[in-house]
Amino acid sequence: MTTLITGATGRVGRELVRSRQAMGESIRALVLPDDPGRADLEKAGVEIIVGSLTDKDAVAKAVADMDIIVHLAAVMLWEPGADQELFSQNIGGAFNLFDAVVSQGLKLKRFFIASSDEVYPSLKALYTPIDERHPQNPYSFYGLTKEVDERLAFFYHRAHGIPVTVARFALIARSEEITRPDGWSGRFLFVEPMRGLFNALGRPDAVAALDAADAGPGDTLLLALDPDGVPYEFHIVDVIDLIEGINLMLANPSAVAEVFNLSGPSPFSYRVAVETLHKALDLPFVEVRIPGPAIRISHEIAKAKSILGYKPVYDIQRIIAEATKT
Ligand SMILES: NC(=O)c1ccc[n+]([C@@H]2O[C@H](COP(=O)([O-])OP(=O)(O)OC[C@H]3O[C@@H](n4cnc5c(N)ncnc54)[C@H](O)[C@@H]3O)[C@@H](O)[C@H]2O)c1
Repeated sequence: MTTLITGATGRVGRELVRSRQAMGESIRALVLPDDPGRADLEKAGVEIIVGSLTDKDAVAKAVADMDIIVHLAAVMLWEPGADQELFSQNIGGAFNLFDAVVSQGLKLKRFFIASSDEVYPSLKALYTPIDERHPQNPYSFYGLTKEVDERLAFFYHRAHGIPVTVARFALIARSEEITRPDGWSGRFLFVEPMRGLFNALGRPDAVAALDAADAGPGDTLLLALDPDGVPYEFHIVDVIDLIEGINLMLANPSAVAEVFNLSGPSPFSYRVAVETLHKALDLPFVEVRIPGPAIRISHEIAKAKSILGYKPVYDIQRIIAEATKT
């Protein structure tokens, strides 16, 4: 079996390459020319096609003769002015892949595409936990690119019979990233990056509450509470559980033409996350009642559990334990 993995040097791709190779698959990767992760892939015996998703010739070479395509590559940008890049790489990139598959007449066993919980209006959810039927209506342009990619996938399934599967990933934790304010998942648990987030969301009242909390210098954790003192809630997925979910989808014919949420075993309370990090790392924390709507993100993963047998095991305590073990 030969599999093209795009985004093979990324947070998810690196782990997926190892996992699929361990199953005996031959892996090809489409890798950007300046990607420092290329050498590791080469060392691991991955066939490399150098180029960008936006380059039709490189994409045509990358998909040629493949049995499976796992499309993970994307840019994740939220800053103003990034929409053009998001459009050309995320939407243009997915289109180039589907178009190449059709024009080469490939008979794929599967085309897996990574979507995101950003397709949902997570901070303004109509109900929680959010299941796959929740209206999409993303608030970020990045989320919109993922919604369009999903639509492309289902179009190519209907019109050309490509056996697509879509997974909506939650925010992904790689263990070491949760312990730092500049970490991909840690940034939601520390005062400084949360101040930046509230600024970006146009929430000066929330910023003022953090300013008044006297967080002190350095890395201070934020036990964020709503105006009634109820802790914020978040739902993330460890990369190990996520890889298990992707592998289950690739193995199961029932996953064709379906979309699945892939998230962790359950949402966590900021009280549990912050107190666990505080104990493990001896970092200070502040408890702050933040005016305005609280962050409460919670995903329903019953569909992946019942159809695929998905059983995530990394809850927040285990993610932190892995990140802080010596
Ligand atoms: N990280 C998360 O929390 C999260 C959450 C939901 C969904 N997702 C989605 O999961 C997928 C994987 O995320 P990740 O965290 O591993 O991302 P990452 O940023 O760690 O890696 C992205 C990969 O894509 C490659 N890439 C980017 N632009 C490219 C281009 N034009 N051509 C070729 N390669 C290109 C990069 O080189 C890298 O290998 C993405 O599609 C992302 O949108 C991620």
